[in-house]
Amino acid sequence: MKGIILAGGTGTRLYPLTKSISKQMLPVYDKPMIYYPLSVLMLAGIREILIISTPRDIAGFLSLLGNGQKLGIKLEYAIQEEPNGLAEAFTIGESFIGDSPVALVLGDNVFYGSDFGNRVKESAELTKGCTIFGCHVADPRAYGVVEVDEDMNIVSIEEKPEHPKSSYAVPGLYFFDNQVVEIAKNVKPSERGEKEITAVIEEYLRKGEVNVNLMGRGLAWLDTGTHEALLEASNFVEAIQKRQGLYVACIEEIAFRRGYISHAQLLELAEPLIKTDYGKYLVDIASEKMLQTKI
Ligand code: DAU
Repeated sequence: MKGIILAGGTGTRLYPLTKSISKQMLPVYDKPMIYYPLSVLMLAGIREILIISTPRDIAGFLSLLGNGQKLGIKLEYAIQEEPNGLAEAFTIGESFIGDSPVALVLGDNVFYGSDFGNRVKESAELTKGCTIFGCHVADPRAYGVVEVDEDMNIVSIEEKPEHPKSSYAVPGLYFFDNQVVEIAKNVKPSERGEKEITAVIEEYLRKGEVNVNLMGRGLAWLDTGTHEALLEASNFVEAIQKRQGLYVACIEEIAFRRGYISHAQLLELAEPLIKTDYGKYLVDIASEKMLQTKI
């Protein structure tokens, strides 16, 4: 399975913060936002990842993350000229995807929860159809909304409905088989002028090939779409990290615990960060006493 992080868009809802830098580069507490979706793909065991961003912002991501070698993964980069919609990720990424299945994660989605790593790892074993998730939210109107029956069959999926048929929003994490490339090519822009991911999922639905995985109360899916939501996400991460002494979306830790990098490589990554708690945490991880902690 390959992975794509879509980290473009205009970020106008966060102006003036995003007037000259990418939304996905903004801090969520102590690390750039893109660490969070990157950690999700790494937890899923995905090691070949394409980062898509704007002509203005792509260089920033390259300078932040490089070719991924230091994390034991392979990162590639591609440009989306205009924010024409999420489904464009698969046409821009066509040659990267090749004949592989692919996961898409949105660059501004933050997930945290018990056993989340194992759940996404299982999802990445997909070979046919697609897997989406459903998260219960108080007001789903700003999202894709999925309605399911008692047998967990999808009854409907709608993008930003005025009158949602359920309280389950579809978060920005999707797993697809290779058909997604051809399906995405045929998606027509919606009324708001975007090639919607929901239109891709609807096509899988017509074929009867969508699995939906409803996330329980144990999973936090956080929004970063407004100044308030961004601050709340930072506060959430701070609270978890302080209380547990375990970091959220620490990509170096995941690389180490998933066996992508050695003990010596982890210490090398910690070196330039050593003045920060983040760097000290990496050194702790490398020490015996933290080795037993699960991710
Ligand atoms: O966050 C989950 C939601 O994401 C889903 O529930 C919706 O079904 C899905 O359409 C999407 O809705 P949003 O309104 O949140 O999408 P937004 O336009 O804000 O874009 C999400 C991220 O993707 C954002 O970080 C910007 C980036 N993006 C967006 C577009 C339209 C791109 O990189 N390229 C694009 O063309």
